[in-house]
Amino acid sequence: MSFATDLLSWYDANARTLPWRGETDPYRIWLSEIMLQQTQTQTVKGYYARFLDRFPDVFALADAPEEEVLKLWEGLGYYSRARNLHAAAKAVAAMGGAFPGDAAGLRQLPGIGPYAANAIASIAYGEPVPALDGNQARVLSRVLAWEMELRTPFDLLEPALKLIPKERPGDYNQALMDLGASICVPKSPRCGDCPVRAHCVACAEEAAEDFPRKSAPVPKVEQAWTIVLALTRDGKLLVHRRPKGLLGGLYEFACVEGHPGEVELRKALSGQGFGSVEIVKALPDARHVFTHRVWRMRGWLVRCEEVPEGFTAVDAAALAALPFPSALRVYREIAGEVLPEA
Ligand code: ADE
Repeated sequence: MSFATDLLSWYDANARTLPWRGETDPYRIWLSEIMLQQTQTQTVKGYYARFLDRFPDVFALADAPEEEVLKLWEGLGYYSRARNLHAAAKAVAAMGGAFPGDAAGLRQLPGIGPYAANAIASIAYGEPVPALDGNQARVLSRVLAWEMELRTPFDLLEPALKLIPKERPGDYNQALMDLGASICVPKSPRCGDCPVRAHCVACAEEAAEDFPRKSAPVPKVEQAWTIVLALTRDGKLLVHRRPKGLLGGLYEFACVEGHPGEVELRKALSGQGFGSVEIVKALPDARHVFTHRVWRMRGWLVRCEEVPEGFTAVDAAALAALPFPSALRVYREIAGEVLPEA
């Protein structure tokens, strides 16, 4: 028996009873698929019934004021779905009320992406195209023990097209949805109960949960910085506006790469134009985690003789008005404390 045959036999005995199952009217199938895109099946049932009650066909929906469509959608969320639904209904009504007859045509309508187009075309027209969403991709990546990381579920289009049967492709797609919802679930899949385990490579390797493959997270780059609160002779603090790039436009304090000792630090600061530098005291360490990097910061309070180019001397009031990155929060707070009240 083939994968599809075993799957469909299971579906015939175990399909969930859902209000849009058994429908062939593309309007109703389209409505259900759009509602189901971001929303649980259980929630959709009530909305689906109320919607069809008020808008029994595409003309009724096209003729309705947008407020009324949005009102009936209230609580389902992702309201762009409702606005696109309304726009698509107007487009279909303008074409005489007939939906495009295949997946490629359906994709031209507002709000219908490749997943929805294939789901609708397979269920309404029997077109053998896979409804590849995250659930179907999870099931297929296990069946095939697909080693490559998926950027989108449609990375599996080629093997999915080989598996989908010419007969009953809509039921096949919905069978995969049901299997993914009940047995081939993301965590602790119930492989012992699976109707297609004989065809599943990951199951044979007892490795279903290891699919779909996910790449190891890229390790964050660690960077060591010394943050220097540099006071001028007249008791102001030196700050610098960062150029474009990471944290561009925000302010920062003097800084030196790495964690040098006191002698090296004074030398480095003098080299940056701070003149002769007197170390006042060490400040607490801090750490900030960005998306791809980590800053490990050591801090010093110093007094300096010169103001290097690009730096501005500020008092407490001026400092309070400047934007600083949250990475420097610890030193910003200390700066506020070391500056005399204006
Ligand atoms: N999720 C998306 N489409 C579905 C369908 N036709 N049946 C069940 N769940 C779904």
